[in-house]
Amino acid sequence: VAQMTDETRKRPLVAIDGPAGAGKGAVSALLAERFGFTLIETGAIYRAVALVAMREGLAPTDERVIADRARRLAIAFRWEGRQNRVSIAGEDVTVALRDEKVGKAASRVAALPTVRRALLEIQRRLGRAGGAIAEGRDIGTVVFPDADVKFYLTADERERARRRMLQLRESNVVADEEEILATIQARDRADRERAVAPLKVAPGAIVVDSTAMTLEDVVEAMAREISRQSNRTESAAAPED
Ligand code: DC
Repeated sequence: VAQMTDETRKRPLVAIDGPAGAGKGAVSALLAERFGFTLIETGAIYRAVALVAMREGLAPTDERVIADRARRLAIAFRWEGRQNRVSIAGEDVTVALRDEKVGKAASRVAALPTVRRALLEIQRRLGRAGGAIAEGRDIGTVVFPDADVKFYLTADERERARRRMLQLRESNVVADEEEILATIQARDRADRERAVAPLKVAPGAIVVDSTAMTLEDVVEAMAREISRQSNRTESAAAPED
């Protein structure tokens, strides 16, 4: 697959990777809103494939069938009421995608190389022009190795379990912290140990440990880095205008 260069980008492309529950979702949304960038939630793309596979009764081990379905996935992102809404073939699936069962199934389909290849093209098309925040597990390592700014956002697993629980409670889902911790540990293991595009710190990525930081502090620290890089990207692009 051809590597992309950033010579046509006037606004930066930001890559954010990290484990489940580190705050990538909330941080990415706030950063996208602040800079007026597109938000590419790549986890939602994997979740959407998992949801469709579950609904259509596709065997989670049938790689070819799931990859075919992934290629035909009519997924769309749209901002509404300060939220990034996700739809598949016109149906709003934002809430359905958050289900832990769907997350677990997403981790499974995400381990299939052919599925990853099918989704790679979709992700690159969305981020190519820059002015975007792309968040996931392999953005800085595989999808956009030439991103202008790369972050690896992490937090202690117990803290991540606590945050996920509060988040679920907010949507009126009763959740047990120990159970969530076990789910997070299992998902981390699956995401880090898979053969294709495992979760790891990309070369050149800035590691942000959010365990003892507030959401605001994390956003401020990351926004400063993006602004610094924005100035550089703009002055580099200017002579060509
Ligand atoms: O971030 P999330 O929990 O919505 O992601 C769901 C699953 O998708 C996660 O277990 C790993 C997988 N994923 C991936 O493999 N690569 C990405 N770029 C994003 C998500």
